[in-house]
Amino acid sequence: MEHFASVLRPRGQRPGADLTLTSPGEAEKARRFHSGLPGYAPTPLVSLDGLAHSLGVSKIWIKDESKRFGLNAFKALGGSYAMARCLSEKLGKPLEEMSFEELCAPAARRALGDITFVTATDGNHGRGVAWAARLLGQKAVVYMPKGSAAERLENIRAQGAQAEITEYNYDDAVRLANRMAEEHGWILIQDTAWPGYEEIPAHIMQGYTTLAAETLQQLEEQGAERPTHLFLQAGVGSFAGAALGFFTSVWGEERPVTAIVEPDRADCLFRTAQADDGALHFVTGDMDSMMAGLCCGEPCTISWKIIDAYADAFLSCGDGYAARGMRLLARPEEGDPVVVSGESGAVTAGVLDALMRGDAPSEVRQALGLNESSRVLLVSTEGDTDQENYQRIINGED
Ligand SMILES: Cc1ncc(COP(=O)(O)O)c(C=O)c1O
Repeated sequence: MEHFASVLRPRGQRPGADLTLTSPGEAEKARRFHSGLPGYAPTPLVSLDGLAHSLGVSKIWIKDESKRFGLNAFKALGGSYAMARCLSEKLGKPLEEMSFEELCAPAARRALGDITFVTATDGNHGRGVAWAARLLGQKAVVYMPKGSAAERLENIRAQGAQAEITEYNYDDAVRLANRMAEEHGWILIQDTAWPGYEEIPAHIMQGYTTLAAETLQQLEEQGAERPTHLFLQAGVGSFAGAALGFFTSVWGEERPVTAIVEPDRADCLFRTAQADDGALHFVTGDMDSMMAGLCCGEPCTISWKIIDAYADAFLSCGDGYAARGMRLLARPEEGDPVVVSGESGAVTAGVLDALMRGDAPSEVRQALGLNESSRVLLVSTEGDTDQENYQRIINGED
């Protein structure tokens, strides 16, 4: 059996966290902004009834972020919102009072002058920043970790950004981007926080809440009962914290049992939860997993507070679980639609499948209370952002 480890936390034993950051009010502001962007449409919430039946649960929904703005991943929700907030602040007018057109209009451009946004990325975030910079008529510089897929680099360059693959791992590429911002007076749009750099990542997390708010609305429109279980994949944890924070704000004690899923090569949240000593625990060196979007070794400080307070389980697993999820969603049960889901998008589906079919420790399934009445919510956070690897995996070559 592939590597699979868990930290399980009985509910009700930890103090809560401040959820202002991810409140429905903040989510509403972000959603209003996104609704004004070209190409905005809520991504589909797909019901996989065949898979649910086959796994012996009541419901499985998967939010398909491959359809987000034509960018094949959810990430642009965060960068675009944080960048727009920066610009509106410079213009001295709250973003809530501006249309997107106003932000890109010649008058705003003249007032703002030339601005360069800089970031580090394993692909999706940088593509989103490059896309938003292009829409806003500004420049973007993007640094990628060693070993990044050429296709992901080209997708960023195709948005007009200056992008390169560095010799660093993700966390050191972030430090490089930070240094370059300081040296050149660029604005760092990083999707993770550390002491002294928390405002922009907070806006990025608020941008991600659009995805959760759409899901809530879609569930209501389908007349569905709320999910009992939620699986969220994590790199630095900004996405997981944003989604869990939003759902906790809405559902409180009725929030779903939530599992945070990471690659075993980059399981910084798992290690931090395991140590449970008040300190953040890092993974260093090369993080050699095909789940490139999740290969981050240092937790996001502001998101961790939410995750630490409200997550019920931390799961650390090998690449095989991602491959399993990719295949499962590419070749669905009869009657279920295909969901094109990449390495970081599909791992939660792979883990759920393994748990329910007895290919992952049964004590985890029992502790999570997964059974025939469970209604499970998953998020496929990316499509086939590395098409070569996607084809190789779904054709069963690994
Ligand atoms: C496809 C995909 N899923 C999930 C994540 C995880 O997000 P976070 O780093 O905020 O935990 C990323 C991050 O880049 C990603 O690209």
